[in-house]
Amino acid sequence: MTEKSKPSPKTQKMLSTEPYKGVRDFYPEDLFIQNYIFNIWRKTAESFGYVEYSASILESAELYRAKSGEEIINEQTYTFIDRGDREVTLRPEMTPTVARMVAGKRRELAFPLRWYSIPNVFRYERPQRGRLREHWQLNVDLFGVEKNAAEIELITLAHQIMKNFGAQESDFEIRISSRKLLNAIFNDWYELTETQSHALQKLIDRKNKMDADTFSEEAEKIVGKAFSFLDFGAKDGNHSAEAEQAIAFPDIRAAKEELDEVMTALQNNGIKNVVLDQELIRGFDYYTGIVFEVFDKNPENNRSLFGGGRYDELLSLFGHEKVAAVGFGMGDVTIANFLETRNLLPIYKSPVKVAIISTGISAENLDQADAYIQKVSTALRHSNISTVSFLNDKKNIGDQIKTADRQHIPYVIIIGPDEIAGEILTIKKLSTGEEKKTPLSSLAEIILYLLPEK
Ligand code: HAM
Repeated sequence: MTEKSKPSPKTQKMLSTEPYKGVRDFYPEDLFIQNYIFNIWRKTAESFGYVEYSASILESAELYRAKSGEEIINEQTYTFIDRGDREVTLRPEMTPTVARMVAGKRRELAFPLRWYSIPNVFRYERPQRGRLREHWQLNVDLFGVEKNAAEIELITLAHQIMKNFGAQESDFEIRISSRKLLNAIFNDWYELTETQSHALQKLIDRKNKMDADTFSEEAEKIVGKAFSFLDFGAKDGNHSAEAEQAIAFPDIRAAKEELDEVMTALQNNGIKNVVLDQELIRGFDYYTGIVFEVFDKNPENNRSLFGGGRYDELLSLFGHEKVAAVGFGMGDVTIANFLETRNLLPIYKSPVKVAIISTGISAENLDQADAYIQKVSTALRHSNISTVSFLNDKKNIGDQIKTADRQHIPYVIIIGPDEIAGEILTIKKLSTGEEKKTPLSSLAEIILYLLPEK
């Protein structure tokens, strides 16, 4: 490019400061919220005996083809060809990865396994409230337990997470359903083929995206006659006449009994906000039994917060015997929206406790001042008090205090020629303006003064 044809700085297109569409930057205050959410997730999962694992964001694309569901594969993955001609996908969810990991070491691992992870996952979706192209997702999974004690434990854990965030039971609802029950109804009651069942499942999964008439018409096309969900009533024994007849089929009865058992056990555990919702199906093809989803009950944000279920067949895709598996995934975006609408998010607190600022230091005293600041900050850090020095910034003292305040640092230590000469310190608590002078030798006293804000 000749000198002449080079774009001048004025005509050159400025780079955008926006992040890539549908992903977020985390400024310190955003990361503070995210860490708060992660900490509650970690603490709750570990309190139930779950241990953390992790894996790479990159997976071979074929991992998702078998069982994730067409929408995710065809429309929602970020897939590319690497330099070695391999088809690579940025993980859109963690379940296939953890299934691969468990299947790969199934002989060495001691079952039952209780594992959790907080991966970031990528889905090419239309960005909107609650839906982004990258989100972090708590995954909690239990491997090797066939009994429905596994579902009960996971739903109890999910409920405990909500309580640990400060939510009331009236704020959310746990909807529960069973793929096994639905499949038994499709097979025995409606006598559908596997292809018809699969098509009907997919239609039910999209039910809330269409009006009731369209759903009925589409369902009738698949089933060959009018389709409706069987009315099992709110409680045992209140079945409609049709449901009463259907329940005579052993598979339908067994699946319904299993659902009832899980719901009763949860209620006995003190979880009162569980409801049966046969229309709940969940998108992924790998679910085989009970599925559940937690809904926000705020009418303005009436959406699914998270969900999961049993997927006993997924691990056999790796060519080995079956391994029972139940788990759920909970996204950071949906939970943050839930907490925000209910004022349950914490107020930002800086991890930095003290800013050391200096004032009135002449050029010839700079070295001496630096040495004194070093001495003070080292002593504070040795006492585990996070301390920053503004490095003899030229700003006047008022501006330095403002900076500390805007950075949410609760205390400043002011050092001037008098403080250096007398080996003393002036501490100011910014929330009240209260000031205290103390000799450096009584650092313990200073620390005690600082501790209440910790
Ligand atoms: P999922 O329902 O696809 O399940 O995602 C779980 C949760 O991740 C959702 O309920 C929502 O909180 C969040 N989420 C999903 N997509 C987005 C998005 N585009 N933007 C923001 N948040 C999102 C699964 O992924 C299963 N693998 C969960 C599981 C684990 N099943 C068994 N174990």
